[in-house]
Amino acid sequence: MSTNRPEWLDNAIFYEIYPQSFNDTNGDGIGDFQGIIEKLDYINELGCNAIWLNPCFESPFGDAGYDISDYYKAALRYGTNADLKRLFDEVHKRGMHILLDLVPGHTSVEHKWFKESMKAERNEYTDRYVWTNSIWEEPQGMGCIRGISDRDGSCAVNFFSHQPALNYGFFKPDPERKWQQPMDAPGPKATLDEMKNIMRFWLQMGCDGFRVDMAGSLVKHDEDGNGTIKLWQNVREFLDKEFPSAAMVSEWGEPDKSLQGGFHMDFLLHFGPSHYNDLFRCESPYFSGKGDVSEFVLKYIESYEKSERKGLICIPSGNHDMDRLARHIKGDRLKIAFAFLLSMPGAPFIYYGDEIGMNYVENLTSVEGGYGRTGSRSPMQWDDSKNAGFSSAPKENLYIRQDESPNRPTAKEQIADKNSLYNEIRKIISVRNAHKALQSLGEIEFLYAEKNKYPLAYIRSLDDEKILVIINPCDSQVSFECSFNLADEIYSFGGKAVSASGKITCPALFAGFYKIKSE
Ligand code: NOJ
Repeated sequence: MSTNRPEWLDNAIFYEIYPQSFNDTNGDGIGDFQGIIEKLDYINELGCNAIWLNPCFESPFGDAGYDISDYYKAALRYGTNADLKRLFDEVHKRGMHILLDLVPGHTSVEHKWFKESMKAERNEYTDRYVWTNSIWEEPQGMGCIRGISDRDGSCAVNFFSHQPALNYGFFKPDPERKWQQPMDAPGPKATLDEMKNIMRFWLQMGCDGFRVDMAGSLVKHDEDGNGTIKLWQNVREFLDKEFPSAAMVSEWGEPDKSLQGGFHMDFLLHFGPSHYNDLFRCESPYFSGKGDVSEFVLKYIESYEKSERKGLICIPSGNHDMDRLARHIKGDRLKIAFAFLLSMPGAPFIYYGDEIGMNYVENLTSVEGGYGRTGSRSPMQWDDSKNAGFSSAPKENLYIRQDESPNRPTAKEQIADKNSLYNEIRKIISVRNAHKALQSLGEIEFLYAEKNKYPLAYIRSLDDEKILVIINPCDSQVSFECSFNLADEIYSFGGKAVSASGKITCPALFAGFYKIKSE
């Protein structure tokens, strides 16, 4: 489909901010908008020019804000709508962009729509969620909320059991089950219209687009995604008309579907068939130096081909749902992991704190529905002052306990150390910025990605520019057959690769980028 595409996305490098844990300026132990504003220069200096902000709306925080109770209102703990607008303005002043997190699939049980929809009398919100007609009938395969409403029925849930599923209809409603409404029934249409109103509200205020939560989950009984694709095409038409430069990034994990739906980019997910975890988060991840990359590459190529080699699959360093990168990958290998992340197609996403190698905090009690994810959501470590400069609150009032190890990394110490991870990332970003082939739209062709072997090698290319990337996170020197000349090195870490007799040999713990002459 023809989609307007904001040009800034072509070289966007995102920084994900989990607002609770970023920077607290009012001493309540939780981060806030003002705290983000004060750190925009830090993000900018790292080289990131775009932000994905996790949900920051009114919520009972049973799922860290992914359970919204008012889509139109910033959660007071972060600030007011005016403060959020100020954040948009400050971001733009620095030539940066910001995506809000749109959660269209479900609300909190505390949302007024849900309270109304639980009532026995018919009202405007009766069809806002997916309800069966009887408490004794459960919506198959979806989990449900039942026994708390006057209304006779069970309400489907979308994620946790306190997140009722908004009603966008069924792709093929079962005629025996009258409660399954078609996508064009008035209830589903009203839900979609309201979601557009929400988008319009924030886009008018100045946000640059959305990361969309569980974007593939909206239309029910839609195995091939055709209904959901249609729904997003409808949203894209609205955006093309009213906000042609709004950027849309989906949490879907199937770029062939999401791009058809008009999204500009999709994420590689840590669940499902992507093999993303093979890289950084399995028993023997590739980047630990003892793993396999081949299945990841096969899947990547499959998605890439299906999405017409558009190269719009974003690979995150991590996010608020998975283990910290540094839980399994250590030392120089983190630098090599970033050489990979920052030389792949699509926009890279750096999860706050990953740029300084922040650790997963072990053995925490769940906070706000985090469960095992809580250890990746601990407050940012800025410097060596109280609470690592995150907050002036008493330690026990911090949102989540911080990493208490004596050698925990901090931004201050990483900035000062010229050999730090932070400084290596800055350097790689500046190389990416100087070479279009390394940016979002450059094509990729894998040269070497053999089962249980190192290195990983690929070519990125755009127009006349061709760049060879070699990545070796293993402990030994390795070679692969390749006759390219390595004379024009634009980046290297860990020594020098050499090319001789049709072979390239590179040292242990190495990454290198080379300009290649087109034949
Ligand atoms: C995906 C979000 O990233 C995650 O944090 C959340 O719990 C679920 N969607 C439900 O919204």
